Formats: sequence, C-alpha cells, structure tokens
Amino acid sequence: MTDNTLPDFQDFTTRVLDWHDRHGRRNLPWHAQKDPYRIWVSEIMLQQTRVETVIPFYQDFICRFPNIDSLAEADLDEVMTHWAGLGYYSRARNLHQAARRICEEHGGHFPQTLDEVMSLPGIGRSTAGAILAFSRNDRHPILDANVKRILSRYHAVDGPPEKQDTQKRLWILADQHTPEVRIAEYTQAIMDLGALTCRVRNPLCKECPVASGCLAYAQDQVAVFPVRKQKKPRPLKSCRMLLLRRSDGFILLCKRPVKGIWGGLWSLPQLDDPELDIIQYCKEIFGIEILSTHDLTPIRHGFSHYELEIAPILCDMPPQKALRLFDDHEYLWHDPKYPIAMGLPAAVKRIIALLDPVAVP
Ligand code: ADE
Repeated sequence: MTDNTLPDFQDFTTRVLDWHDRHGRRNLPWHAQKDPYRIWVSEIMLQQTRVETVIPFYQDFICRFPNIDSLAEADLDEVMTHWAGLGYYSRARNLHQAARRICEEHGGHFPQTLDEVMSLPGIGRSTAGAILAFSRNDRHPILDANVKRILSRYHAVDGPPEKQDTQKRLWILADQHTPEVRIAEYTQAIMDLGALTCRVRNPLCKECPVASGCLAYAQDQVAVFPVRKQKKPRPLKSCRMLLLRRSDGFILLCKRPVKGIWGGLWSLPQLDDPELDIIQYCKEIFGIEILSTHDLTPIRHGFSHYELEIAPILCDMPPQKALRLFDDHEYLWHDPKYPIAMGLPAAVKRIIALLDPVAVP
C-alpha cells in the first residue's frame, strides 16, 4: 500500500506479471501471431469454454477458416459443423455474421477501435478489450468472469457482479489495475490468475501473488466473494427424441430451425408434447410406418436456463416401399456406423451412440 487508504495498483500489477512469468500460460496457439482475427476466434471460443477444450476446436477452425474472408464466404452450415461439440452455438452464428460485416464495413480488416469492435455481434466490452490488448497491446481493461472474481475478492466488493452499480465499480477497479505497459501480458496474466489460482472453488490463496493485499483473504472471507445472487433452481423440461431407423440401419436427422436451442444444427425428430402418439406422428409427418418402438435410457443435458431430460425412442421401420420425399436441406438419412461430419449437438451424438448395442432387427 502506498498509504493507509489506497491500494497500490502498481505493486499488484508487478506481482501479477512476475507470477505470470513463472506460472502463467504461454505459447497458447492463438498468441503465436498477433493476428486480431485468430485472437477474436479464440476469445469467442473461450467465453464459455476452458482453454484445454478450446485448443483442438480452435486448431480445426483456423485450419478451415484461416482468415476473415474465408469465414465470411463460408456457408453457415459449414461453420456450425466446425463448432459442433463446443456448445453455445449463437457464438458461431455471431462470428460468421460479424465476419461478413467486417468484409462489408471494414474492407475485410479487423477494426481497431473499441467502439467499432464492440459494435460487432457477439462482442462485449471485455472481449473487445481483450482482442485489442492481445493484438495491438492497446490499453483496455477487461472484466471477464475471472477478473470479476479476483477484483471482487481483492477489494471485498459487496453486491452481486450482475448488478449495475457493482459492474460499474468493478470496471473502475479493472481500469485502475490495468498497467500502461505490457498490456497484452497483463491481460493474459490476470485471466490466468483467475483460472489457475483465484479459482471459483478451492482457491489457492497460499500461492497467490497478491494475497497480502486481498481484503477477502485478510478477513478469511474468500468463499463469500463474489457475492452470489440468489439462484433460482434450473427448471427441468423433458422431451422425446426419435431414432427413426430404416431396415438398412440408417437413421433420420433433421435440421433445427435457426432460432432456438441448437439453432441450425442437425438433430433428431423431437416431440415436446408427451401425449403425442409416436406411430401416428411418424405416419402424418414423415409418411413412415413404424414396426416397433423401444425406449432407450434417457439422458440429461444442461442449458444455461434449464435442464432437458431427453427420452430417446428407437423406432424401427419395415423395409420401406415409398417414403414421402424429403427436402434434403431439412432432412437426411445418416448411417450411424460412420462418424458424423455435420454439426450435431453433443447431446444428440450421445443419443445416437446409444444405438451401438441395439442391433437392426
Ligand atoms: N478466457 C478468455 N480468454 C482467455 C485467454 N486468452 N486465456 C485464458 N482464458 C481465457
């Protein structure tokens, strides 16, 4: 502390940077070049997903879409295919839409000001700041979940971070902590400190370089911060998904509408109404006669606002005479013996994998 009332921000920064030199993440693939496009893709993937999970997806994505033009020119369908398994699919739709906007509005060059970057779909203030800090070493504070947690604890900020006045206070603190030099390194360092040391559960305070100035630590209150909003339990919804299987073992996939969960991905026919008669449904919607139905083990999948219990029903069809014609943009027959090339939600892949031990009659 420089005096008795003000925290010494410089000392904090120096300690965090020294810690990062010894323990932080370096050599992340998106930092190899200071290409704002690659950093943008990585930051969007990292918004809801851990570094270890992101790395292979990132490498695959960049291999197929190495620059803004290639992403802008691609079909959304193909972009979704490369995102499949990462979840939170609106991130991929926004990325694609933003790439097209960058081509139209910025001649294909990633914008360089905070306001321009923030005006792109899917990019908030913290992500915009991180992209410009990493790619240009421009001084912008960031306030992602890791930084919120560190600052809430370090300054014992009372009030849930979602509240507007708490947010405002945290942004001011984030700005005060951001140094004038080594911005890119500091930005990575503070994210890593949150992910590796100032963890949500079991924080490693004894190894923390700034524990000596941390108010929550001094008060033995680390677990109390950030203050949590009263959480409502996530409601449980349920549905059935049909594994409509032809006599040759192929199953029917259908494209989900762009809006709503898993928008634009391939999935299985889904019945939200528990009363609906499957046999009648298949006849009316697909013109398909079902030989038998067989309940498979239900699975659960968590979304941000609810949990979904999916009851998979295997529906075997007799050798088919005439099938109603399908628009191949909406439906296709897939051979489950082969890996799926298209974008499928992880939960749907799990359901299809249930078929493995169930032989075709
Ligand atoms: N979370 C968001 N961005 C990140 C980054 N660059 N490194 C580690 N975690 C992150």
